[in-house]
Amino acid sequence: MAKSNMLVYKRLLRYSKPYTRRIVFAMIASLGVAGTDVAIAKLVQPLVDHVLAERSMSLVNLAAMVVVGLAAVKGASRYVQEYFMKTAGQLVVQDLRNDLFCHSIDLSMGFYSRTPAGSVVSSILNDVGMLQKSAADELVAMVREGLTLIGMVFLLFYNDWRLAIVAFVVLPVAVVPASHIGRRIKKYVRKSLANMGILTSILQESFSGIKVIKAFGTERAEKDKFGDENWNFYLRMKKVIRYDAATAPIIELLASFGAAGVLWYGLQRVMSGAITQGELLSFIAAMGMMYGPMKRLIKTNNVIQKAVGAAERVFDLLDTPVDVTDTLDAIELPRSRGHVSFEHVDFGYDDELVLKDFTVDVLPGRMVALVGASGAGKSTLIGLLARFYDPQQGVIRIDGQDIAHVTQDSLKQQIALVDQETFLFHDTLSNNIRYSNLQASDEEVENAARMAYADEFIREMPQGYETVIGDRGVRLSGGQRQRICIARAILRDAPILLLDEATSALDTESETVVQRALANLMQERTTFVIAHRLSTIMHADEILVMEHGKLVERGSHAQLLAVDGTYRRLHDLQFKD
Ligand SMILES: Nc1ncnc2c1ncn2[C@@H]1O[C@H](COP(=O)(O)OP(=O)(O)OP(=O)(O)O)[C@@H](O)[C@H]1O
Ligand SMILES: [Mg+2]
Repeated sequence: MAKSNMLVYKRLLRYSKPYTRRIVFAMIASLGVAGTDVAIAKLVQPLVDHVLAERSMSLVNLAAMVVVGLAAVKGASRYVQEYFMKTAGQLVVQDLRNDLFCHSIDLSMGFYSRTPAGSVVSSILNDVGMLQKSAADELVAMVREGLTLIGMVFLLFYNDWRLAIVAFVVLPVAVVPASHIGRRIKKYVRKSLANMGILTSILQESFSGIKVIKAFGTERAEKDKFGDENWNFYLRMKKVIRYDAATAPIIELLASFGAAGVLWYGLQRVMSGAITQGELLSFIAAMGMMYGPMKRLIKTNNVIQKAVGAAERVFDLLDTPVDVTDTLDAIELPRSRGHVSFEHVDFGYDDELVLKDFTVDVLPGRMVALVGASGAGKSTLIGLLARFYDPQQGVIRIDGQDIAHVTQDSLKQQIALVDQETFLFHDTLSNNIRYSNLQASDEEVENAARMAYADEFIREMPQGYETVIGDRGVRLSGGQRQRICIARAILRDAPILLLDEATSALDTESETVVQRALANLMQERTTFVIAHRLSTIMHADEILVMEHGKLVERGSHAQLLAVDGTYRRLHDLQFKD
């Protein structure tokens, strides 16, 4: 337990390294704050013993000026300290948040099919937020209070070590409840942040699925689901609050034993003449000033435990291995000719295999259609080529290169994908198309749109290509969205084209036009087309018929019709009349 805390501190420290200068500035300034506090406590003694005794007016004046002077020094130091420490903290948090986002974006599709996106969002926002609130902001207090405490302790021992021992006997006793409380707080903070992750996922899902909720009238159920999880969050936070609230009273009670001891023993020492009244008062002043920081410092421990709880979650996510990576010997795949081969590929999302011993060789420039029942593994096959996942067995090659041994960047350069999910960003139409090729000129964008049969409706939009569409493209029809996605793929100008039900949402007329445009495009490219509508793929050079992850038939339309198999059956079903 303690060891893992140490590791978390070390990692956080590594993150603060670039900002050492700020932190050092802040530390120096804290010395100013602590120093003035100690000086004030120390000055009580000459004030009582000399100023009052000598009844000198000039010393009285001096005392007043010293108070203001010290306050000024303390104020200035405090400002400098807060500023540098808090900006340092903020910068560390920035770096962490960036790292977290970069790492999350790199995580594979496999990770995202297991983990709700909402929980990742929550980590980046809430976990880091908790870390910032606790560590970055509270660190300021801790450094300052810590130094003040050390100064006061020295002063106490310097004034009267016997009294000091009496005052500090209770300190070791206080450590026990404090560390127990700290552990509990850490545990419940972790749990509450996990709840926050679930809560964020529910949020994210409800709003992106708002249409389904409205369609089925399930608002009530969603509200209950959210309310329950929100309540769970409260229950966890309640535990944190309970332990937090118990800290101060426990410490105060313990401190009162110390104070009582000092009073009891100190008064006797004054009476016996061992120390002056001023010395006792100065001692008590220092003790009073010290208990404040001590109490807060022990509370700071709570805060640190909260930060550690949050940091552990942050680091858990940062340490999630990226399972699709560039190998060390990965080479740059030059612009491909589009020779694609699958060799004995086995793949399953979990234990069950979705593709079994799949082998196929596709020559450059060919149009290959994948046909088969829903769930046969067509999209999976295409996903493997785009390296969303790595196969468990077998090799996938482009131009003879194992795609597991080329850089992902250069692999993605070869591929343009139009998926079943037509996702558009909350941005202008032109930028949505340009997403596949950021350097493309307006003219190229419009060309691609024209080929995708999208130019016409785009021009009818209020701001044409500059029309901003909703984050799920809600202001476009399904077919229009699909045409934007096709334009995006056309603009990519990649040698391998992957079309997964890319024209399924188009009406027959526009599909014919888009097909014709795509046919031009496909001529010098290797294309994989998936379509349930057989008219879409009849003209393919080759049709691969899949069943339960296996290749069961292959050949041209005419060849497959000749054999009385699956394809023939599908064909007859679709063209009954
Ligand atoms: N992310 C995933 N995690 C787990 N299983 C998955 C995942 N995606 C697909 N599957 C499973 O893999 C199998 C093949 O799915 P795939 O999407 O490749 O089918 P498909 O042939 O494209 O079907 P459709 O024609 O309906 O699009 C299905 O049984 C499906 O349940
Ligand atoms: Mg599919």
